[in-house]
Amino acid sequence: MKNPKALWQRPVFRIGIAVVFLIILGGAAGGIYFTQLPPEQPIQFPHNVHVGLGAQCLYCHPGAVSGPVAGLPSQSKCWGCHQQIKKQSPELEKLAGFVSRREPIPWVPVAIQPDFVHFNHAPHIAAGLNCESCHGNLAAMTVAEPQKGQNMGWCLNCHQKMAPENFTRLSDCSICHY
Ligand code: HEC
Ligand code: HEC
Ligand code: HEC
Ligand code: HEC
Ligand code: HEC
Repeated sequence: MKNPKALWQRPVFRIGIAVVFLIILGGAAGGIYFTQLPPEQPIQFPHNVHVGLGAQCLYCHPGAVSGPVAGLPSQSKCWGCHQQIKKQSPELEKLAGFVSRREPIPWVPVAIQPDFVHFNHAPHIAAGLNCESCHGNLAAMTVAEPQKGQNMGWCLNCHQKMAPENFTRLSDCSICHY
């Protein structure tokens, strides 16, 4: 070949680079997308249906007002209604199966902090926050979806914004790590 173009000037090479870039970008976006997906749950529990029927968050997660842990409903709470509802479906058969085997439903946590972080619901509810401000719009979800970016900065930013007068105490390491 006479006077070959420099490698980087060849269209094929440039297209090749562009393709590699797109693959990397696509991979990154895919990674971000997939980490937002809810985990596989033992029953595809529809929040939207139940909240739409008027069931309150606190009816199923009553611990949030009184203490650290909001709690999940027991199968007998589910069965209290579903025993009387004639509707049949594959998901409700799974529920009936857990009930007849007297087996707790092994829900997979999605809203969870590492063990070295202590979070308490009660003071947050007492301060007037609603569930949606931290957990997203459950009325539009089936199973709960993980929310992104709930790291230390997320806690601290809100404390600074909502309670600047108490921020010295609310940013003290020992209130969240002990
Ligand atoms: C307050 C009463 C009530 C409680 C408590 C309740 N449900 Fe339901 N649930 C309903 C009603 C009403 C429907 C709608 C039924 C229909 O579509 O006719 C429903 C629908 C469902 C469906 C969708 C059925 C389908 O496939 O279309 C699932 C799954 C379900 N419930 C599971 C549960 C589980 C699991 C629990 C406990 C964590 C629970 N429910 C607690 C009343 C209740
Ligand atoms: C200020 C933010 C915030 C608010 C407001 C909030 N939560 Fe949470 N929630 C969290 C965090 C953080 C966790 C993870 C806690 C952990 O792993 O120690 C969590 C965990 C949960 C869990 C799973 C663990 C458990 O505690 O049972 C449920 C269920 C829950 N929240 C329901 C609710 C409901 C219902 C409300 C409204 C009454 C609510 N949350 C309000 C931040 C919040
Ligand atoms: C009829 C009962 C019921 C009602 C009403 C209900 N939930 Fe749930 N919730 C469940 C069940 C069952 C699960 C476990 C399956 C899942 O993760 O979606 C759950 C899971 C959650 C989780 C994740 C818990 C974890 O372990 O990580 C959050 C957060 C949550 N609900 C918030 C809410 C909020 C906010 C509302 C009101 C808008 C609400 N729920 C209404 C039954 C209910
Ligand atoms: C959306 C806003 C918001 C977020 C997010 C938030 N908090 Fe808070 N937090 C508050 C408010 C408001 C108070 C009450 C402030 C006051 O007492 O003046 C509070 C109080 C606290 C307190 C003090 C409780 C007491 O006994 O007085 C602790 C501890 C705390 N938060 C931990 C956390 C942790 C850990 C996280 C993150 C996992 C977090 N918070 C996320 C708003 C938030
Ligand atoms: C309002 C609550 C809060 C306060 C105050 C707080 N932290 Fe944290 N911290 C968190 C949360 C939530 C996480 C978990 C972050 C995550 O999962 O990415 C965390 C994580 C950490 C980690 C682990 C970092 C990592 O990447 O895994 C260290 C170290 C840490 N905090 C140190 C501190 C120190 C030092 C202070 C005081 C200057 C402090 N924290 C104050 C909530 C808090």
